[in-house]
Amino acid sequence: MKPADKLTSAEAQKELDRLAREIAIHDRRYHGEDAPTISDADYDALRRRNAQIEARFPLLVRADSPSHRVGAKVSEKFAKVVHARPMLSLDNAFSDEDVADFLGRVRRFLGLKEEEDIAVTAEPKIDGLSASLRYEHGVLVQGATRGDGAEGEDITANLRTISDIPLRLKGNPPDVLEVRGEVYMTHKAFEALNQRQEKDGKPTYANPRNAAAGSVRQLDPAISASRKLNFFAYTWGEISELPAKTQSGMLEKFTDYGFAVNPLVKRCETLDQILKFYSSIESKRAKLGYDIDGVVYKVDRLDLQERLGFVSRSPRWAIAHKFPAEQAETVLEDIEIQVGRTGKLAPVARLKPVTVGGVVVRNATLHNEDEIARKDVRIGDTVVIQRAGDVIPQIVRVLEDKRPKNSKPYKFPHLCPVCGSHAVREVDEKTGKQDVDRRCTGGLICDAQTVERLKYFVARDGFDIEGLGGTMIELFHEKGLLKEPADIFALTEKPEKVSKVLAAHRAALSEERRAAEGKDPVKTKGKKEEREDKVVENLMAAIERRRKIGLDRLINALGIRHVGETTARLIARHYRTINAFLKGMESDEARAELESLEGIGGVVAEAICDFFDEPHNVKALHRLLEWLDVTPMAAPAKSSPVSGKTVVFTGTLEKMTRQEAKARAESLGAKVSGSVSAKTDIVVAGPGAGSKLKDAQKHGVQVMDEDAWLKLIGG
Ligand code: IVH
Repeated sequence: MKPADKLTSAEAQKELDRLAREIAIHDRRYHGEDAPTISDADYDALRRRNAQIEARFPLLVRADSPSHRVGAKVSEKFAKVVHARPMLSLDNAFSDEDVADFLGRVRRFLGLKEEEDIAVTAEPKIDGLSASLRYEHGVLVQGATRGDGAEGEDITANLRTISDIPLRLKGNPPDVLEVRGEVYMTHKAFEALNQRQEKDGKPTYANPRNAAAGSVRQLDPAISASRKLNFFAYTWGEISELPAKTQSGMLEKFTDYGFAVNPLVKRCETLDQILKFYSSIESKRAKLGYDIDGVVYKVDRLDLQERLGFVSRSPRWAIAHKFPAEQAETVLEDIEIQVGRTGKLAPVARLKPVTVGGVVVRNATLHNEDEIARKDVRIGDTVVIQRAGDVIPQIVRVLEDKRPKNSKPYKFPHLCPVCGSHAVREVDEKTGKQDVDRRCTGGLICDAQTVERLKYFVARDGFDIEGLGGTMIELFHEKGLLKEPADIFALTEKPEKVSKVLAAHRAALSEERRAAEGKDPVKTKGKKEEREDKVVENLMAAIERRRKIGLDRLINALGIRHVGETTARLIARHYRTINAFLKGMESDEARAELESLEGIGGVVAEAICDFFDEPHNVKALHRLLEWLDVTPMAAPAKSSPVSGKTVVFTGTLEKMTRQEAKARAESLGAKVSGSVSAKTDIVVAGPGAGSKLKDAQKHGVQVMDEDAWLKLIGG
């Protein structure tokens, strides 16, 4: 066979045609018919040859090229699973007062009296990774990671290997049942795994949670099976019929079906019992044999849970009471200033490495200039740091008696360390208050800001381009391949260049390593190059896949100041299509229209208008759009008789509290307003209604009592 770089263009085209046909036949035999006719190695060779020719002749890449179909046989990643019901997270409580507040909120929402107790289940908060298991007619059909809560990864094959996860349920389970819980690794299994890894010269894991996550995300289920994992069931997703009326009842059912449920779970009736339980778990923590990071309380009665509902991504009926952060002492070796996407100068503490709660900590956040001055943190100081869960470690205080004699107060730079522009603290025109952050004024000439914006663009909540991480963005930017988002898509037209840059980077790295080890440079060939082809091939495919993108994700990825995931979604829901959004932003009414959206205030609206007032931003966005197919935002899934209507509640409500009434109406797509105008659609009036009822009559607005309202919204 001729090497790829010796082929003529005509030969290359012919061979690419042949390879596309052949690979498709083998894919079908393997997947569709479960009857492969060639070995894995031969199949890999075909794909490799295809990739090599494509890298040499990028213009000849076929639209149906096998390299666009990753996830075929040699899948390098997992298929996506859209969760039938989202996987939510929990709000946190850090003190006894926070827990009392939680119970207070629940009581108020439900309109209960202060002395009325609310029974909750108290469950250890397992520190692993959550998974959702879907059973249909008692048989496990799918297992997925949490992912971003809406969409996870299909890891069925790996979850099947966990002995705590039944493949077939016992008893009488509902026809459709998604059991959710935590995959975790015991301390014993974790230590054994790390010893094995070390013996095999492989990297070890920092803690049991990382080890569990790494194990279920192995592409080869045999590896996953060789790692000892466990599973506790604690909640559910889609369910065709509820087999119990309480959380504790549901956990009992889970046990009947054959799941492992944490044996320490307890039903508590009062705040006192809850806090006693918390202390008893905390004292048992070290001897449990697996990691927990707090206790979760859930309102026991499911009918109350239903009424309480959710705020954003967490249920109102549950809270995680976290254990206090773990602390350690170490030396602050340096303060480094990082420049972020918005030009913010963020001071980062470089620490002498120290282990806190099983994780080696090297960096901590110092927040901002005032914080450094307030704590008088100096380079060389011995400091107390703390770390709680996934939060970035923080410096709690300085141990002044250990301070070196010649130390000087830290001087925060007034110039951007990356581009040298002035860094200033903006002053709010209205309040006259100085911003806490100092920002680089370099804007587009500041490389740090450019790079951070690109990183934000490809990050998980944005374009989520697999394989294109921070280091690669930095490298491509440095080599002149990337300046703005559109350039990312332009990479697909130059795989050869990308390959070269990556190869040079790898060579430099390995040389550095060899030099550090005192060895001579060598020319590495063969296996590594093949791996690199694969990396480029996958990267190109990953970028290609993201040319289709939802409007909300696109808006979030633009990195407009003050616009995150939630605001992006609000905007996308309002404008629906990219064209409507662009048109809206061109209009003189842009700011007023944005401000009219529930959840968007003046500051955010102004930031969005500022972004679109900058011609450079608009041009860059248009260049990007040339590559994209932006999917319009779908209308809200559930249409209800009150969606889009403006509702006013007045007078006394007898079946629910005002807060509950408002939350229910909003969850059904209605807008709840405090005053009656000609724009109001419905006034729900209870006994004692006064002026608002009169206003309703004046404007001819439909008036109904609480029962009629409940009937309208279906209960
Ligand atoms: S309930 C809607 N119960 O904690 C409620 N979560 O911080 C969803 N977790 O993503 C979660 N132990 O991974 C629940 N007994 C427990 C838990 C638990 C651990 C994890 C879970 C969740 C995270 C939220």
